[in-house]
Amino acid sequence: MKIAVFGTGYVGLVTGVCFAEIGYNVTCFDIEETKIDTLSQGKCPIFEPGLEEMLRRNLANGRLSFTNDGKAACRNADYFFIAVGTPEKEDGSANLEYLEGAIAEIANNLNKDAILVIKSTVPVGTNERVKDKLKANIPRELRVSVVSNPEFLREGSGILDTFHADRIVIGADDQETGRAVARLYEPFDRPILQTDVRSAELIKYAANAFLATKISFINEIANLCEHMGADIGDVAKGIGMDHRIGSQFLNAGIGYGGSCFPKDTKALEKLTESCNYDFKILRSVIEVNSRQKQQLFYKAKELFGSLHGKRVAVLGLAFKPHTDDIREAPAMELIARLLDEQADISVYDPAASGKVSPVFGSSLYYAENADAAIKGADAVFIMTEWPEITEYDLARYRLLMRQPIIFDGRNCYDVAEAEAAGIAYVSVGRKA
Ligand code: UGA
Repeated sequence: MKIAVFGTGYVGLVTGVCFAEIGYNVTCFDIEETKIDTLSQGKCPIFEPGLEEMLRRNLANGRLSFTNDGKAACRNADYFFIAVGTPEKEDGSANLEYLEGAIAEIANNLNKDAILVIKSTVPVGTNERVKDKLKANIPRELRVSVVSNPEFLREGSGILDTFHADRIVIGADDQETGRAVARLYEPFDRPILQTDVRSAELIKYAANAFLATKISFINEIANLCEHMGADIGDVAKGIGMDHRIGSQFLNAGIGYGGSCFPKDTKALEKLTESCNYDFKILRSVIEVNSRQKQQLFYKAKELFGSLHGKRVAVLGLAFKPHTDDIREAPAMELIARLLDEQADISVYDPAASGKVSPVFGSSLYYAENADAAIKGADAVFIMTEWPEITEYDLARYRLLMRQPIIFDGRNCYDVAEAEAAGIAYVSVGRKA
């Protein structure tokens, strides 16, 4: 049995490599030649713990290959997994051009009956349109079914999430096709939920929107804590201990970023517009997040008056730890604002500095480590909770900074300990 995976981003690559790992024969296709070259040499172009090792193992045993030749990828494939990006268009809706490109490539090269599985996050109704398009463009004697199989893995823990998925959602309008895809996943031994196609498409958006809602909700409660003299750590713990609420995704901070929540919440909002439904909660979630991303900047402005000429250090650039991804990262927005203020900025991230330099160039100083970023600073902003940053010794701030003031967007330190270390410590949702 042969599987072809289209798209070698986080989802496609992790899926392809994990399928090879459990024993399938997998060919991954991508239109980017340099990416295919890199992957064929056993190098992983994305920062994903454990992935490169697994990739090399399966290249070596011959179960995994990479190509940018559409014909080679499609030849004799039984299953096509589509995992191309669906980035945000200017109006917030999902851009389906890569999906359309992949479908055209498959339609041109299909040489046997096949099942097409769409993993990309796509607006409800897309699978049906893909099916119609394929039918109109492939030889009449070929049968192709389209199945929705949304992905729930997180960047930075993709392999773990694949092998320990809470559920695998398979949306098919015909039971037999759904069962065939379910059988593919059997070796993972995870719960499988079979639904119709439209429900599967919506599950993906609903899951991301719900998680984003949890984050915006707890951020609002954190802001309330500041007004009311309560502590968000205790409040989050106290509500999270109720199993109906659950303790995950209740870390207050500087708002959600990344390539998924911001894009998918906006795409869902766009979808609701198309059916004239006013999804009030979703609109608020998006608005609260955009306000939350600016919170630390305004707290600093309030304290300093002007940040003009101030030496500031930004610790953490990635949208979360264990990734070098800076898409929609709160740090990027903060840096842009600090530059507007003409602050003198040094930055440090264990993995993401190389992604930031093409954006801000020489207007920032890219420090080799946290010490170098902090040295001589008037203020430090903590933007990503990398272990190296959360475990950074409080005493060093006092030693290295001009004035030890920390604006901590991730609540890394205990307030009393920070104050005992002689630091002016401003965090989120806690007593100053
Ligand atoms: C998210 C979902 O968690 C995955 O299930 C989904 O498959 C993926 O989007 C996707 O659609 O592809 P990811 O974007 O990798 O995964 O990152 P998360 O770990 O979910 O974090 C997203 C953002 O929320 C980060 O900026 C993080 O800092 C923030 N966050 C998360 C909080 O501010 N508080 C929390 O309690 C949790």
